[in-house]
Amino acid sequence: MNPVIDYIHAHRDRYVHELTEYLAIPSISALPEHRQDVRRCADWTVNELGRIGLEHVQLFETAGHPVVYGDWLRAPGAPTLLVYGHYDVQPVDPLDLWESPPFEATVRDGEIYARGAADDKGQVFMHLKALQAHLATRSSLPVNVKVIIEGEEEVGSANLDQFVRDHREDLAADAIVISDSPMFERGVPSICYGLRGLIYYEIRLRGSARDLHSGSYGGAVANPAFVLAQVLSQMKDRGGRVKIPGFYDEVRDLTEAERAEFKRLPFNESHYRKELGAPRLTGESGYSTLERVWGRPTFEVNGLLSGFTGDGAKTVIPAVAMAKVSMRLVPDQDPDTIAARFEAYLRKVVPRTVEIVVERMHGGKPWLADVDNPFVQAASRALEAGFGQRPVLTREGGSIPVVATFQETLGVPSVLYGIGLPDENAHAPNERLDLSNLHNGIVATACFYEEASRPS
Ligand code: BES
Ligand code: MN
Ligand code: MN
Repeated sequence: MNPVIDYIHAHRDRYVHELTEYLAIPSISALPEHRQDVRRCADWTVNELGRIGLEHVQLFETAGHPVVYGDWLRAPGAPTLLVYGHYDVQPVDPLDLWESPPFEATVRDGEIYARGAADDKGQVFMHLKALQAHLATRSSLPVNVKVIIEGEEEVGSANLDQFVRDHREDLAADAIVISDSPMFERGVPSICYGLRGLIYYEIRLRGSARDLHSGSYGGAVANPAFVLAQVLSQMKDRGGRVKIPGFYDEVRDLTEAERAEFKRLPFNESHYRKELGAPRLTGESGYSTLERVWGRPTFEVNGLLSGFTGDGAKTVIPAVAMAKVSMRLVPDQDPDTIAARFEAYLRKVVPRTVEIVVERMHGGKPWLADVDNPFVQAASRALEAGFGQRPVLTREGGSIPVVATFQETLGVPSVLYGIGLPDENAHAPNERLDLSNLHNGIVATACFYEEASRPS
C-alpha cells in the first residue's frame, strides 16, 4: 500500500485545486434555472471518471437529472464494490449569510468553504482520488468497482429507484459503499448503520377567495393562519409524541444493547446544545438526544407562510395559509402507510371552515443494517489506518433514499462512512469540509479498497 499512500501525500495540493473546480459548478437539483449547471456537473463527473482510469464511463439520461456511471472490473475473483454518491447540491439561500461565495471555494483555517464541500461532492471526490491513487501507481485496483453518482439525491432520488431496478444486473455487487454522512465528531471516524426515512408535504388552507379587512370581516370567517396553527398543534402532544393514530404501530424499539452503545459514545449534551444555540434541548420523553435523533420518528414543520409579514401593521385576514411539514421515519415504518394515516388524520382535524389542498412531495424509506459483516470490518480497519483511531458505530437522523432501494433490489450490504463533521453546515450557509479529514479520508478509502479485497 505504501506507493499508493505516498501518491496521495504527494498530490495533496492538487486535490484542493481539482475539488475547487468541482465545487464551482452550481449543480442545484431543486431549481429549474440550474438545470444546465446540473448537466455540466454530470459532464464534469463523466470526464473525471475517465481521467482517473475507470472504464465504460457513461452518462445515463433519466426523466430528471442524469446518472453518471463508470466501472473497473479487471480483478477476477476479487469482490465487487458499488460506490454511490451524489453530485447535486442544495440551494444556497440565504445568500447574504455566506462569508465567501458558495460556488467559489475558499480555504480558511484548513477548511474548504463551498456548497457541496461536505454534502456530497467532497466525499465523492475522496472516493475518486482513492481509486485514482491505486490506478496511477499500480495500473490496477485490488477490487472490482462500479461507481454510480447521481444528480437527484437532494430532491429525493425520484428517478434513481427505477434506474436501479432497470439495471439490477449491471449493478450487481458484493457490497455498496457510500460516503454521504458525517463523522460523530472531529477525530472520531464513524461507520453509520442506520438512516431515517422521510415523507414530506405541502399543505394549503384557504378561508376566503381573497384577503379580507379584519375589521369588516374578523369574527365572521375562519382565519386560515390560525386554523393552520391549531391543526399543527394537534400533531404532537406535550411529551413530544406524534398524535397521528397508528404512527408508532410499526416502530422497531431500540434494543437495550443499542441504547447502551449510544451511551458509550463521547456525546457532550451541553456542547451540542450550545453549538446549536438552543435555549433547551427537547424531544420525545423517555429518550436521550441521540436516541431521539437516530432511533425515533418525528414530525417537523419545515416552513410556514401566511398573511402580512412586512414592516409595520396591516389589518388583514389572509385568504390562505401554507405549511411544509415532514416526518422522519424509522424501521419498520413504511412511508406510504404513514402517509395514508397522516392524511386521514389531517382531514379529520381540519375544520370545514377552510378548504384544504394536500400535496405529497419526496421521501424515502428508513434503513438499518446488520453491522456484523466483513465489509464493515474492512471499513473499520481502513478508517483506523487513515485516522489513527478505531471508528465508532453510529446511526443518523438524515435520509438517503436509495440505500433502502439498494437493499431491496440488490440484496447486498451497504457500508456508510463519511468524513464530514456535524457542524460543517450541510444545507446551510458556509458549508465547508475539513481538508485534513479529506486527506485522511482519501488514505482511508484507498485502504478500504485494499481491505475489501480480503474481507474477513
Ligand atoms: N447526505 C444527506 C443525508 C444525511 C444527512 C445522512 C445527515 C446522514 C446525516 C443527504 O444529502 C440529504 O440531505 N438527504 C435528504 C433526503 C431528502 C431530500 C429526500 C434529507 O435527509 O433531508
Ligand atoms: Mn448527501
Ligand atoms: Mn443533503
